[in-house]
Amino acid sequence: MSVNKEVKRITTHILQEMKHRGEKIAMLTAYDYSMATILDDAGLDVLLVGDSASNVMAGHETTLPITLDQMIYHAQSVVRGAKRAFVVVDLPFGSYQGNSKEALNSAIRIMKESGAHGVKLEGGTEVVESVLRIITAGIPVMGHLGLTPQSIYKFGTYTVRAKDEVEAEKLKTDALALQEAGCFAIVLEKIPAKLAKEVSESLHIPVIGIGAGQDCDGQVLVVNDMIGLTKGFKPRFLRQYVNLYDGILDAAQSYIKDVKAKDFPNEKEQY
Ligand code: KIV
Repeated sequence: MSVNKEVKRITTHILQEMKHRGEKIAMLTAYDYSMATILDDAGLDVLLVGDSASNVMAGHETTLPITLDQMIYHAQSVVRGAKRAFVVVDLPFGSYQGNSKEALNSAIRIMKESGAHGVKLEGGTEVVESVLRIITAGIPVMGHLGLTPQSIYKFGTYTVRAKDEVEAEKLKTDALALQEAGCFAIVLEKIPAKLAKEVSESLHIPVIGIGAGQDCDGQVLVVNDMIGLTKGFKPRFLRQYVNLYDGILDAAQSYIKDVKAKDFPNEKEQY
C-alpha cells in the first residue's frame, strides 16, 4: 500500500490531533534519501534522523561520536526524500549540553541547513532552559526520557530505566517539565509499560515509545533493526518485519557467483 501523494505535510498540530482522537503515531528512524523515500511512501507520520546513525550508519559503539555536521548531512538527505512525513533531527552529544545559547545555535544550524521540521534532545529538567530558548526561536522540540543513549557511560548499561520509585518519579517530573516548556512530543525509551501508560495519560502532548509498551500515543523503532539489517540485535521490544541481512547476503553471494562464472552480464545486459 502506498499513500496518496497529494496528502498534506504532517505538522505538530496534526500529531496533537492524532493523540486526541486516539490515532497511533507511526515513527521510524531514517538516515538517507533512498530509505526516507520508501518510508514516506509507506505513510510514516514522523521520520527521526536519530543519532543512532552513529551506530548503524557509521559503526560506532555508542551515539556519542557523531557530529553536528554529520547529523546535518543525514538530515538533508532524509528531508529530500520525505514529502509528507514530519522530519525530526537529533541534536548530537556535545551540541547542546554546554548552555542554552549553544543549544539554540545547534538547533538553528539543523533547521537552516537541512530543512528539517524539528529537533529532539535528551534529558529532563536539566535541559528545560535550552528547550525554552529553542522553542522561543520557533523551532519545534521533541523530548527524550528514560534510556537516553547519550548518557550511556553514566548508566553503564542499556537495561530498562525507571524501574525504581525514585527514578520513576523523576521521569514523571521531567515529562511534565518538558510539556510545560513547550515540547510538542516526548520519546520514552525502555521503561516499564505501566509507567509509560501513566505518563501518556497524564500529558496532553503525544508520547512516542520505544520499548515502553502499547499504551504510548505512538511507536518508534530504529529502521535498520526493524528491517533486520542489524544482525544479532534482538531486544524484547524489537519486532523484526523482514530479514534484509540474509536477503542482501544471498543477493551479494549470487552476484559473486554470476560474475565469477562469467554469467553476468549476459548478452541482453550489455550495449
Ligand atoms: O537515535 C535514535 O534512533 C533514537 C530513537 C531510539 C528514539 O533516539
